[in-house]
Amino acid sequence: MKHFAFFVVAIAAMAGLVALFAPTPQHADTGTAASAAPYVTEMPQGYRDWRWISSAHEAGNINSIGAVLGNDIAYNAFKDGKLPYPDGTIIAALHYRYTASDKNNKVFGKAQSFVPGTPTNIQFMVKDSVKYAATGGWGFGHFQNGKPANADFMKPCFPCHQQTKDTDLVFTRYAR
Ligand code: HEC
Repeated sequence: MKHFAFFVVAIAAMAGLVALFAPTPQHADTGTAASAAPYVTEMPQGYRDWRWISSAHEAGNINSIGAVLGNDIAYNAFKDGKLPYPDGTIIAALHYRYTASDKNNKVFGKAQSFVPGTPTNIQFMVKDSVKYAATGGWGFGHFQNGKPANADFMKPCFPCHQQTKDTDLVFTRYAR
């Protein structure tokens, strides 16, 4: 009996040691691997109904047309020219292939009309000065078919957006 009790204590002590030294499991869905800065891994709700801020067309290989939308906090900040953007700001960039519209062209009688085609990706910038302190207070998000990009893909977002520090890392301007 004495031996058995010692055995139980020894097992318990070993289990404790294992728990102490075992690495903490990383949660796959948070995007907060110890080495990488956190980024947005869940699509914000309701973004499709947000208000329009502006649009941008990228020619060349990207061949994209994008609509930039903002939640209420974003919309008001854009409209009032408020800088820096307050916490709670969320900007969504909905991207589509830049596609010729045969239907519109027929009506115009010449090839001049382009419209959003197949959706390609949706990008987000979420302002949370504490959570995303490592990337200028902005959480970057990139989704294809609703799935977030991996940490490597997200690395260039912040360095490039830092080139517009004077507008709090946001390139888009409110289209009046
Ligand atoms: C090479 C520089 C560059 C990189 C890298 C880059 N962006 Fe941008 N981004 C821009 C520019 C320029 C614009 C404005 C023109 C446009 O909308 O296409 C923009 C616009 C945006 C917008 C709309 C708000 C704004 O700042 O105008 C979002 C959201 C965005 N990018 C997210 C991202 C995410 C997420 C990543 C990383 C996956 C990323 N960007 C990587 C240059 C970059």
